Amino acid sequence: MSNATDRFNAEAAAWDSNPDVQLASTLGFQSLLAKIPWLEKENPGLDVLEIGCGTGILSLMVSPYVRSLTGVDVAEGMITALKLKLSQPENAWAKNILPVYADLKDPDDERLRPDPLHPNQKDLGPRRFDLVISHLVLHHIPSLEDILKTMLGCLNSGGAITLIDYEDFGPEARKFHPEAKMEGVHRHGISREDIKKLIEDAGFVKVRIETAFVMEKDVEDKPGEGVVKGNKMSFPFLICMAEKQ
Ligand SMILES: C[S@@+](CC[C@H](N)C(=O)[O-])C[C@H]1O[C@@H](n2cnc3c(N)ncnc32)[C@H](O)[C@@H]1O
Repeated sequence: MSNATDRFNAEAAAWDSNPDVQLASTLGFQSLLAKIPWLEKENPGLDVLEIGCGTGILSLMVSPYVRSLTGVDVAEGMITALKLKLSQPENAWAKNILPVYADLKDPDDERLRPDPLHPNQKDLGPRRFDLVISHLVLHHIPSLEDILKTMLGCLNSGGAITLIDYEDFGPEARKFHPEAKMEGVHRHGISREDIKKLIEDAGFVKVRIETAFVMEKDVEDKPGEGVVKGNKMSFPFLICMAEKQ
């Protein structure tokens, strides 16, 4: 695995104590609820695949609104942290989450097959999902073309993607990460035009890119000198929505 994965493995245990991560996840979750009418607590029907679930902060928020959520992450430490969280008595209700450690390339990957609600079912064929979500992950993925193709392959026809990440609004977007955390950052956010074209080129239809929310975050004053408390900058986040025909 890459050095970026090493970074996420090292950060996994303390990941949830970062207020920026908590705030972004809460705002991301509110955006999902606002944009996806099928997220229903009373009648949860969707099977969801989350790419880059990390420690599952968003996964646990979404879980009551869906039938199942399969959370995939390329950092084993993140998946271990999510499994530990799910083993705690206070999270016993979240039985519909399946954590999967994988660098997902193939929609038919066996590790996606178990239905979290029927973990002991055998001889399962490829599993398909109604919705693929991701939060703060696209900027870490080397080939967006490849991951979008994989997402398309994982969906049922009529299924959808809803992907959230911060916007590349120009050179200042670089400040989202302090210089010490640039390992594994493949782009400084996502640009509206580029991501729209990439999603269309991957074969999705009804592509919509909208501003989801704007988040304030402390940033470095001088590159490499560390984040300065109170030195706030506003970062717009995009929500990218599209469907599989
Ligand atoms: C900034 S973290 C966000 C984690 C989580 N979504 C959150 O908002 O707390 C990015 C996550 O994406 C994961 N990741 C990076 N590339 C990935 C890939 N190709 N497939 C799955 N996960 C990936 C990293 O291991 C890391 O856990």
